[in-house]
Order: sequence, then structure tokens, then C-alpha cells
Amino acid sequence: MKKIKLNLGKRSYNIVIGHHIIKDIAKLVSPSVLNKPILVITNKKVARVAGGKLLKALKAIGAEVHGKEVPDSERAKSFATYSKITTELSRIGKKIKPTIIALGGGVVGDVAGFAASTYRRGIPYIQIPTTLLAQVDSSIGGKVAIDLKEAKNLVGSFYQPRAVICDLSFLKTLPRKEIINGLAEIIKYGIIRDKALFNYIEKNLQKILNLSGKYLEYVVWKCASIKARVVEKDEFDSTGIRVILNFGHTFAHAIENAFKYSKKHTHGESVAVGMVLASDMAFDLGILSSEDFERIRNLVKRAGLPTAIQKADIGKLMKAIEYDKKFLSGTNRFVLPRRVGRVETVEDIPEILIETVFKRGGA
Ligand SMILES: NC(=O)c1ccc[n+]([C@@H]2O[C@H](COP(=O)([O-])OP(=O)(O)OC[C@H]3O[C@@H](n4cnc5c(N)ncnc54)[C@H](O)[C@@H]3O)[C@@H](O)[C@H]2O)c1
Repeated sequence: MKKIKLNLGKRSYNIVIGHHIIKDIAKLVSPSVLNKPILVITNKKVARVAGGKLLKALKAIGAEVHGKEVPDSERAKSFATYSKITTELSRIGKKIKPTIIALGGGVVGDVAGFAASTYRRGIPYIQIPTTLLAQVDSSIGGKVAIDLKEAKNLVGSFYQPRAVICDLSFLKTLPRKEIINGLAEIIKYGIIRDKALFNYIEKNLQKILNLSGKYLEYVVWKCASIKARVVEKDEFDSTGIRVILNFGHTFAHAIENAFKYSKKHTHGESVAVGMVLASDMAFDLGILSSEDFERIRNLVKRAGLPTAIQKADIGKLMKAIEYDKKFLSGTNRFVLPRRVGRVETVEDIPEILIETVFKRGGA
């Protein structure tokens, strides 16, 4: 078992990673958090594969446990679900503020965390991520949100959990497509911060994909540590440090948007293509060597992820990327690799280069 402390003063918490650790929840989380009525938020699929184990561990310490199932997939990050969760909270915790446990992937974590951040101006919550993506990324750092039909994550806040428990045994039931999705983010961490991690993934790719014990534990621990260190330096996304976590995501959001979030390009697949396009852009600007560009592209390909966009309307892609960037800052800004293990932000990329990169990337 591995433990990472995310240091944020009064909002500090532990991220614990290991196999079959859920049974020890009482040792991993402060009693003051579990001593209250608990609302476990999950979906049907996750309840079936992980709910029983969590319930058993909570019952063993005599906790008062309630449950709320939310719809599967991104649909759950809605006002409708948020409203059902908060109504349920008002029923169970009349006198004491209840605790939320988010048991599921990034979707459950985001909506449950958002409910925790706003219900009675904030109640404690614990993240128990059950997808690879959620274990290395979304459960850590306190970004919680729901979607509007205009765009994803438009309504949200920064609100840190009290603990993150990554039980690796939960990943055994995850479909291979979801494992590959998570792998895109794992490769991202290697490129943005850690050449040794990138080398490790290159060397042990199949073992990681097969969720082999110590290899899986190592990469989840490494990635969670990188995310924790970045969040510590820029909790509220205000100093420009946290933005490096968005490597590949500017292109990815445009691709997802242009394909209307269809199954044609999942989030992980879009991030994979986005990382290759950002590397191509960096190579074009003379920032990245051809050797490192090839290494990035090769690893993405070997992981079973796409390196190019399926045929898409270039106009739609350009519109989507402009919306994303100008909406946020008034100018475009890309996170580009300088070499494997290091990225930097570059502003005001000429439109013609963005379009060229999209076209070279299959559009
Ligand atoms: N808050 C953040 O910092 C942050 C960062 C990255 C992504 N996100 C958000 O995360 C979401 C994506 O998360 P995700 O990729 O985990 O998707 P997800 O939550 O939709 O989970 C993917 C699928 O796997 C199923 N599943 C979950 N655990 C399982 C298990 N153990 N066994 C079998 N099936 C299981 C789910 O029911 C779902 O069908 C997006 O909404 C994205 O915006 C948030």
C-alpha cells in the first residue's frame, strides 16, 4: 500500500493506493468523517462490482449508511441528478451534516463532489475512484462540476475531498476500453513531468494494460503523486502551473465537441490524439525534437490509442477550439512538450498552424 499526502494546510488529505484496501476504510479515513450519516453515491454498474465490499467495511464499524444511485455515463453530471442528491441529503442529515462517499468513475466523483461542495455550504466527502482515469486524475485535486448543454463542466467549484482511496482491485471489472482511456492520462503524466515514468510505461506497457499487480500500483502512485504536487502549487488554477495537466486537452476538447461527444472519439482517445497534435505543433515550432515526437506518437499507438482524428469537418474543429480558448482567456494558449518530461505554455499560436496541425492529424 502506498500513501501520498496532498498538502494544502487545513484542506490537506491522504491519497491511499493499494489492492483490496477498501476493507480498511476505518483506518484510512478520520473517524470524525465516518461518524456521521453517510450517503454513498454510485451507479448500478459500480454498485454491482464494488458496492458490497464498501458496505461491508462501513457496516463493520457501525456506520449509518444510505445510498443514492445516479445514471451511468456523462448524463449524470446534470442539474437533475444534483437536485436528487441534495434532496436525499436533506432527508438523511436533519441535525448533523452528513458525509458523502463518491464510489465510481470521474462522472460520479464530479457530481457527488459538486453536491458536497454546495450542500449546506459544504459537507465532507471521500473519493473512492473505480476507473483508472479517476484513480490517476479526476478524484484528486478538488475540481468538481456538472455540465450544461452548451459545454461540459460549466457549473462547478474547487472543493477538496477528505480522503482519496484507490483500491486497485476495483479495476479488474473495468472494460478494456476504459483501461486504455486511463492509459492516455498516464502517458500524459510521463510527458509533462516525468521522463522516468515515460520510460517505465514504454518498457512495461503490456503489464500495465493487464493490470498486473506491482506495475499497476507503481503507475497509479506515480501519476497521483505528480497530480498532487501540481495541485499543491496551484490549487485554484490561478498561477498557470495546473494548466500543464491540460496537455493534449485543448485539441481533445475541440475533437470531442466537433464529434458532439459521440462514442467515435472517447475522452481518452481524444486526449491521445490531442497529445500527438500538440507534439506535432511543438515539432513544427522547433521546440520538440523529431526523436521525442516519434517516441510520443509510438507509445500512444502501442497503447492501442488513436494518433489521428477520424475524418472531421475542419471548420467545426476550428470553431470548437477557438470557442474553448477565447472563452477562457481572450487569446489562445497551448501546453506544448519541449521534451519527454517537460512542457511549457505557448500563447498566440497562428490560426494557420492550428489548422495545418488538424489537417496533418487527419481532419
Ligand atoms: N474533476 C477532475 O479533475 C476531472 C479530471 C478528468 C476528468 N474528469 C471527468 O471525469 C469524467 C470521466 O470519468 P471516467 O473516465 O472515469 O468515466 P465514467 O465515470 O463515465 O466511467 C466510465 C464507465 O466505467 C464504468 N465503471 C466505473 N467503474 C467501474 C468498474 N470498477 N468496473 C466496471 N465498470 C466501471 C462506469 O459506470 C462508466 O460506464 C468526465 O466527466 C470528465 O469531465 C474530471
